[in-house]
Amino acid sequence: MKNKKVILYYFSGTGNTRLCAYHIAEHFKSLGWDVTLFEYFYNKINNIIDPSDYDLIGFGYPIHAFNPPEVFYKFLKLLPICNKKYFIFKTSGEPFALNSASSYKSYRLLKRKKYEYIMEHHFIMPYNIMFRYKDEVVKQQYMYLDPLCNMLVKRLANGEIDKPHFNLFYIFVSFILRIEWLAPKINAPFCKIKPYLCNECKICLNSCPTHAIYINKNGQIKFNKNCSLCMRCVMNCPTNAIDFGIMDTWKVTPKYDFEKIKKDFTVPDYYINANTKGYFKLFYKYFKKQDELLKKYNIKIEKTERKNLGL
Ligand SMILES: Cc1cc2nc3c(=O)[nH]c(=O)nc-3n(C[C@H](O)[C@H](O)[C@H](O)COP(=O)(O)O)c2cc1C
Repeated sequence: MKNKKVILYYFSGTGNTRLCAYHIAEHFKSLGWDVTLFEYFYNKINNIIDPSDYDLIGFGYPIHAFNPPEVFYKFLKLLPICNKKYFIFKTSGEPFALNSASSYKSYRLLKRKKYEYIMEHHFIMPYNIMFRYKDEVVKQQYMYLDPLCNMLVKRLANGEIDKPHFNLFYIFVSFILRIEWLAPKINAPFCKIKPYLCNECKICLNSCPTHAIYINKNGQIKFNKNCSLCMRCVMNCPTNAIDFGIMDTWKVTPKYDFEKIKKDFTVPDYYINANTKGYFKLFYKYFKKQDELLKKYNIKIEKTERKNLGL
């Protein structure tokens, strides 16, 4: 019998959604599926892999202002009509219910193109804009990532189907907030490189997924309106040499080192718990819901904390 085939099309700025894609891919592989990963990169869009060759399609994106990044929505527009089942995996920094409306516009578009929605999973990952999450929160989010991907794949492989449900008010708010799609175009001309910090490694230039960074006639690094505000350049710059224009104070650097944080036994496993107050209380609700799902599918979370360190 032929192996089943799944393709994961995704966009990722700073790596969170890519990480989800990798974990989802590994779980499919462990069930004997053939997996193809298609990460959005500007020079790949003229050569999009045809989804009709696959049994299942996954679409992944980071939530930007309660919507997918515009660049990813435009990518979906390029896909051919295809009568295949698909699921969504999306990441965001906040657990707000409003994030649930982010897939509505894509859902409508894909429906018009005959794609059949089966489910989506929303992963809360470290914030890559405005403020940095502390290691305790990052560790907990990372600990849940692989078990949740395992659960998602189990559900998909079992042939489970969820009904899409969207809240009208949230759809309206996310529609208004789509104004954020203008922000990169406004911000790009204000972005520049601080020459006294730049080591000319060109990581920003070579890794920009939308080709928004270029070298002008005078040899200077410049930004154009292709910017998707994904924050990859900012987060990956080894010398913090990028002045991110109007949004400079929203930079989050350096990259989150998930494996290092996971191995750091001084960081507790379950920082967010029933006694958590304030903003992070919302995260407790999220983790509690994920715990219930994982229990239902008999998936355990691997603890990393060493007992009685005496620290
Ligand atoms: C421009 C921008 C807007 C964002 N808007 C939201 C948002 O509306 N809600 C949210 O929870 N997180 C938001 N985030 C955080 C990201 O969704 C989150 O960090 C995500 O996991 C990043 O994924 P990536 O590393 O694959 O790009 C935003 C990030 C950026 C860069």
